[in-house]
Amino acid sequence: MTDQPKVLVASRVPVDVAARLARDYNAELNQDDEKYDRERLLAAADGCAALVVTSSNKMTADIIQDLPDSVRIIATVSVGFEHVDIEAAQARGLIVTNTPDVLTEATSDTGMLLLLAAARRATEGNQLMREATWVGSPLDFNLGVDLANKKLGILGMGRIGQALAHRAAAFGMEIHYHNRNRIAPDREAYAGNAIYHADSDSLLEISQFLSIHSPLTPETRLFLNAERIARLPDGAIVVNTSRGDVVDDEALIAALKSGKLRAAGLDVFTGEPNFNPAYRELKNVFMLPHIGSATVETRNGMGFCAVDNLDSFFAGKGPLTAVT
Ligand code: DGY
Repeated sequence: MTDQPKVLVASRVPVDVAARLARDYNAELNQDDEKYDRERLLAAADGCAALVVTSSNKMTADIIQDLPDSVRIIATVSVGFEHVDIEAAQARGLIVTNTPDVLTEATSDTGMLLLLAAARRATEGNQLMREATWVGSPLDFNLGVDLANKKLGILGMGRIGQALAHRAAAFGMEIHYHNRNRIAPDREAYAGNAIYHADSDSLLEISQFLSIHSPLTPETRLFLNAERIARLPDGAIVVNTSRGDVVDDEALIAALKSGKLRAAGLDVFTGEPNFNPAYRELKNVFMLPHIGSATVETRNGMGFCAVDNLDSFFAGKGPLTAVT
């Protein structure tokens, strides 16, 4: 018998994080990354005081309602927490924590990667090289567009949006943003002297590049629909590192096909790991498999942040980064 709290770790975590959990808790690890269905998860949670989950573990209301009474805290190894039904967790008196801050730099780096790759037609260039069909580089070959001197609209100016703005400003972009609230003057300065738009339509109308950083909420689901895409300047470029469901796929695909939009860079997709197959047919889309925060340092940092939350909670000091 051990008096360490029992913790179910429902998805694979980085090896150093797993080692710390195994050392400090009675941890049931899932390093094979078995995809737990509802029944398996509930059975594995038996007697657990904590669950460590990722965005692959859908903690729906119906699962949360049936969790054993022993469970007191759910720590998700992600900044986004739309996969955890917060209302259901609150109704059960459960604490939910996430992992803010530690992934800001990695995810905003990925935003830059998408901006650059979409602007410079990386999909087409890469395909030529892989298929060995490159026959020469005349001056009009595979021309992209500059980032410098272009207006970048940032939708959702939280930590990641600000860090992307900071980077993009160094590439010579003019930064604009829309957010529920205007950010503090020192943060606007950090974010490349970003210009606030109280109204999202006004942001869309000037965004030669648009980068989406809104969390997925009922209000932001399918935000970028056909009507809003129509407001963007012709030839705009859209990138998304937040959540796929913020974008209406059919509308985005139609705009990329018609030439209304020049290109898109996408790291997140509705229904991932499945995604709308029409994207695969479009040369003007640069796609990544949701790796925004996937660096060694950052994934360790995220895992350790989740464990820090458990440590603090079980030491009676309360969670560190609670979302409830
Ligand atoms: C996050 O932390 O929310 C990332 O998108 C990984 O799920």
